[in-house]
Amino acid sequence: EAFDVVVVGSCMTDLVSQAPRLPKAGETIHGHKFFIGFGGKGANQCIQAARMGAKTAMVCKVGKDFFGENYIQNFKDNGVSTEFVGQTVDSATGAASIIVNDAGENAIVIVAGANLLLGGEDLRRALPALSRAKVMVCQLEVSPDTSLQALRLSHENNVKTIFNPAPAIPDLDPEFYRASDVFCCNESEAELLTGVAVASIEDAGRAGQELLRRGCSSVIITLGSRGCVVLSAQEPSSPSHHVPTKPVTTVDTTGAGDSFIGALAFYMAHFPTMSLEEMARRANQVAGVSVQTIGTQASYPSKKDLPTGLF
Ligand code: RIB
Ligand code: NA
Repeated sequence: EAFDVVVVGSCMTDLVSQAPRLPKAGETIHGHKFFIGFGGKGANQCIQAARMGAKTAMVCKVGKDFFGENYIQNFKDNGVSTEFVGQTVDSATGAASIIVNDAGENAIVIVAGANLLLGGEDLRRALPALSRAKVMVCQLEVSPDTSLQALRLSHENNVKTIFNPAPAIPDLDPEFYRASDVFCCNESEAELLTGVAVASIEDAGRAGQELLRRGCSSVIITLGSRGCVVLSAQEPSSPSHHVPTKPVTTVDTTGAGDSFIGALAFYMAHFPTMSLEEMARRANQVAGVSVQTIGTQASYPSKKDLPTGLF
């Protein structure tokens, strides 16, 4: 069976509180709503690609517990193959405590748990799917070694790779850059990795040039409501291309970057000759839908909810 998109990454149960603002250290404040949702950057990206119409598989690890069982059912409900979803008794399903303020901003603490037990043996088991996928996507909520191994395997098998270095770590192994066809991060991750302060679109272009210099084939830096910048090693001397977005009413930006990456993976699999800028323009629109409703996966649109011009 050949998949369009295989994601090697994380699953987290999102425990979300909506409050007027983020609390300070030592402070208790009243929130107005609490809910539990399906999250984790890897799974979020996979679910968005699946809802766009991609044939997807998830390579991940959950606990042998209530949250893990629920998560596997969530993948099935969204048509994601669970053939490579492992369950362990040695750790609990990953959890994320999230606070969303009235401006739609968030603060997140993740306890990765079972995600950190995803390793080389799991990748070997998934190799038949990994080696034949159109696109492989990974992040940094599982062990970095596992993500790097997945990128290496994909690269060797001529599978296009999207690497999302989130959450960012300062001492990223240089091989991550060389194994990334598309290196996609947000402004704060770009800043942490390159040391270039990213306040403007021009700054993002400079940080992007530095990431290209480290060996990525192309770079996308997402800039929230300002869209993103796209750079390609094929035209290294050309300036970065800014792809703006249409303004929307923002309720919750949590997981918007994941919606963008999931949509991008779908476009890379289904429209391999489309320019990366056009893919980014369309993925911006998909992510723009997600920020208008509360939650991560709960807010991700399906093909039927999106304008036909996006397909
Ligand atoms: O990117 C958003 C995600 O980050 C949330 O779903 C949460 O689980 C954390 O992993
Ligand atoms: Na949302």
